[in-house]
Amino acid sequence: MPRKGGQPIALRSPQEYNDRATVLAGANMTPSLEFLKLYGAGPALSARAPGRVNLIGDHTDYNGGYVLPAAIDREAVVEFRPADDSRVEIAALDLTERAVFDLRELKAATLPAWAKYPLGVATILLEEGHILRGMRATLRSTVPIGAGLSSSAAVEAAFALAFCRSCGLTVPPEQLARICQRAENEVVGMRCGIMDQFVSFLGKRGKALFLDCQTLEHSLVPLDDSRARILVFDTRVKRELTGSPYNRRREECEEALAIMRRHAPELSSYHNLTVNLFKSLAHHLPETLRKRARHVVTENGRVLFGAKALRAGNLIAFGALMDASHDSLRDDFEASCPELDLLVETARQSAGVFGCRMTGAGFGGCAVALVALEHADNCARAATAAFKARFGKEPAVYSFSAADGASLEER
Ligand code: GLA
Repeated sequence: MPRKGGQPIALRSPQEYNDRATVLAGANMTPSLEFLKLYGAGPALSARAPGRVNLIGDHTDYNGGYVLPAAIDREAVVEFRPADDSRVEIAALDLTERAVFDLRELKAATLPAWAKYPLGVATILLEEGHILRGMRATLRSTVPIGAGLSSSAAVEAAFALAFCRSCGLTVPPEQLARICQRAENEVVGMRCGIMDQFVSFLGKRGKALFLDCQTLEHSLVPLDDSRARILVFDTRVKRELTGSPYNRRREECEEALAIMRRHAPELSSYHNLTVNLFKSLAHHLPETLRKRARHVVTENGRVLFGAKALRAGNLIAFGALMDASHDSLRDDFEASCPELDLLVETARQSAGVFGCRMTGAGFGGCAVALVALEHADNCARAATAAFKARFGKEPAVYSFSAADGASLEER
């Protein structure tokens, strides 16, 4: 519930919250000029794709469950010029690094970490029978890296569009999302679900995206930014998801499902696991697996109710579900950390906060709060002060608006 009290104060604009990160991300550069300098001609096209913040429904996507993310107004931008050879040359402008690979001989081993995403996308497109051509490209991004805001999905989606456009391929966005997910699973080695890539392609301005990750049925849900602001606190606790407990959690969910299926063979995935069926099967599971499965089944319910609450404009009900989601991720899924818990606790005690939870994979990364417009600044200040007092450093604070999914532009 939004708490009463606290004086309304002059509100910082989203731009002010975001300025610092924009400067850090090097957005003052003139990328087309950089392109010209590198390749001797300007770019022909550019592809952009956003990061995302997940409002509710974490660790459900790879279990065939439900999610409710929104694409954010931070994006990866690939400027490119299709080439008549099979070489892909990419300059990552923010990192001042370059990577080159040949489409006839795709090898990830010697490439910098970021280049494995475009390489992965090219690998899967080729595997699926598409014929690709090389390109000269620059990459820059304003999505904070390693923060749980899907900077990697943004890069994958932008390159997927760039490769397709270079060869005149029209692949539906749902299929491109699958291709990008396969790239991450099979080439990068992160066994992520479909959420990040899906919303990076299909997000819409002013809307959250409700997605059934089993059937890929999806619908848009209004996000009324005249009443509430999406604040995101980045703990800056970095985690490499390929080496994090993420893959282990996924295995635990699979183990739990396998045990439950021995007793309920009709159960094909968490998609058709009701709370009642789970209760009747829970005693077959060892403690840890029981907790993991309980998170998934209850979180699925929260997403379904959450989508309804948002459609009805009931931010109080939605916020309560966000709070319950965090508690479940912390206690049952054990995907939180002290930094996230402190941010969540402080934000929840702040006036005007509907709800707050960790977002994304967890184990570090970000917390998201839904805050009444006039209280956003106070909430940001309170959480920042408490975090600094406890951990001796400030979290990054962002205010995001729901943005459109990936798109192409002629240059
Ligand atoms: C990461 C993955 C997603 C999803 C979330 C947790 O962001 O990339 O597929 O599993 O974690 O909800």
